[in-house]
Amino acid sequence: MTWRRGLVFAMVQPMKALIAAGGRATRMRPITHTINKHLIPLANRPMIVNAIEKIVEAGITEIIINVNPGETEIQKALGDGSAWGAKIQYLEQQGGPKGVAHTILNAQHLIGDEPVLFYLGDNIILGSVKPFVEKFENEGLDCLLALSRVRDPQRFGVPEFEGDRIIRVLEKPKNPPSPFAVTGIYAYSSKIFDAVRAIQPSDRGEYEISDANTWIIQNGGKVSYQEITGWWKDTGLPQDLLEGNALMLDQVRDGNGPAFADADRHVSIQGFVDIGEGTMLGPNVLIRGPVSIGKKCKLSECYIGPYTSLGDGCIIENSEIEHSIIFEQASIQNAGRIVDSIIGQKAKVTDAKSTLPRGNKLIIGDNSVVEL
Ligand code: G1P
Repeated sequence: MTWRRGLVFAMVQPMKALIAAGGRATRMRPITHTINKHLIPLANRPMIVNAIEKIVEAGITEIIINVNPGETEIQKALGDGSAWGAKIQYLEQQGGPKGVAHTILNAQHLIGDEPVLFYLGDNIILGSVKPFVEKFENEGLDCLLALSRVRDPQRFGVPEFEGDRIIRVLEKPKNPPSPFAVTGIYAYSSKIFDAVRAIQPSDRGEYEISDANTWIIQNGGKVSYQEITGWWKDTGLPQDLLEGNALMLDQVRDGNGPAFADADRHVSIQGFVDIGEGTMLGPNVLIRGPVSIGKKCKLSECYIGPYTSLGDGCIIENSEIEHSIIFEQASIQNAGRIVDSIIGQKAKVTDAKSTLPRGNKLIIGDNSVVEL
């Protein structure tokens, strides 16, 4: 009877998803000194929401999110998942940061023997992961990798091919054997647990997901790949955030326009602009979308140009801003023209000439970057 029980079990247990949302994101400082990278707003929504939406759209509603010990903000932002019709369980990373692959072992007791869609929460994609999940299930695979053709494969896990078969995956190789990145979206059978147990930490002291993938390939696992043809981004560096923000703004082109805004005369809104409740506009404001503006902002004598997001409670006066992310409660006054910028929560930017002595007076947090 055991085989029958096993069969029934396999049929009724739906695939779960595991999102990796821990880590310190040191390359993203100073922003990540005070905010978990996965909560950085893109088009005014935490970046990790993209992962949740893609997972749910693929038909998976049981989601485990791996977080840093003591994390509370991600839980506050996402809740129990009911906003997406999903059930989210949070799991703290045990034993310190040991690399992406170790995250899976940490969650083994929650995943059980079932297949898992493993999703790095800082990966942003445009397309659907549904065909990816379907391919994994239909072909009875142990490992399915999502590949994206990139200009800089040396930043990622890179597959090496023999014909059309992947023979191994190299982590951040100096001489990439192919022009592909293995993106942070993976589907695995329970063979992944054997793989992570078998591999050793790399030179950077981490259990590399690329080594686990190679182990599955070299130990009889059924491995395949699918190319992501739509846009994919691993938001490793601050400039990636601007690109991610622009992409997400293109997605919210169904914004609600100035419906909630308290608009003065001499306010002009062009293109797709999403404006939160309680925001006051005018006089002399030009907003050219796609733009997302949070709640309770005050804008006057300013131009907000394409691909800009302003968080809640921002004050913008007598300035021009384009292609930038401004976090909540920042104030930008008499600041001239600001482009390609990321400005953190409650930061103040103003004109150096408005107070004496004239000149640039800076209070800049660790790891900040300023171009004057
Ligand atoms: C991780 C993986 C790498 C993968 C990348 C995708 O790299 O180790 O193989 O290509 O995610 O986002 P990390 O972002 O941790 O440097």
